[in-house]
Amino acid sequence: MTGRAVRIPDLREKKVRGEKIAMLTAYDATMARLLDGAGVDALLVGDSLGMVILGHETTLPVTLDVMIHHTRAVVRGTGHALVIADMPFLTYQVSVSEAVRNAGRLLQEGGAGAVKLEGGRPILDVVSRLVDVGIPVMGHLGLQPQSIHQVGGYTKQATQPREGARLLEDALALERAGAFAIVLEQIPASLARDVTARLTVPTIGIGAGPDCDGQILVSHDVLGLFDRFVPPFVKQYAHLAGTITGAAREYVEDVRAGRYPEVAAPAARVPTA
Ligand code: KIV
Repeated sequence: MTGRAVRIPDLREKKVRGEKIAMLTAYDATMARLLDGAGVDALLVGDSLGMVILGHETTLPVTLDVMIHHTRAVVRGTGHALVIADMPFLTYQVSVSEAVRNAGRLLQEGGAGAVKLEGGRPILDVVSRLVDVGIPVMGHLGLQPQSIHQVGGYTKQATQPREGARLLEDALALERAGAFAIVLEQIPASLARDVTARLTVPTIGIGAGPDCDGQILVSHDVLGLFDRFVPPFVKQYAHLAGTITGAAREYVEDVRAGRYPEVAAPAARVPTA
């Protein structure tokens, strides 16, 4: 991908111009290079890596060191997209000073350009402090996978008017605290449209309908790599799980049948002087 790297103000300018923002997740350098080459605006090193890369049932076991390790890899593979790193569970909820130190490590050691935090009004003090010290923050409302035990399942959120009003208040408060964009996960499309209209910062939807300022999906879902569970709102643009298993099966059969490696043709005799 050529052209200068995407910066945070570019995202707000896209909202003003009515241009949609395209985001995907990435967890390693090779995938980051491929997605970056496709022209995505921003890559999220999501703590979803706990599930799609590490095989956990939830995002909760992901640690800060793991996030830094994967963020560094993604940054090495990226030339154009803005790289945003998720702050994992318990790295920003305990105290503001811990949150600053942990977010700082994602920028300083991981090389991220921004961090993402789940939650609204309960984490406003953290968001404002991070922004005050120069750490750009993306918010995340609606379904918050780090609270999955409380929520009870990966289902649509804020379906009742009172919950929708609360989510809108959270979004406005995050914007006032300095968040540069807000992910809206699995909320009704009409609510996402209203929130998007009320905010000056971009909204990035996932399972939140077509009217957000941008969209994000887990790249393993989009590419058909993670076939244990496919959320209903996902569009699979490829089915790589089958392609990979098919290729690996062919390789196994070739090795077992002695077809790989191929027998080399006898080398031509080198004339001696
Ligand atoms: O962790 C993640 O991948 C995310 C996106 C699904 C928004 O938070």
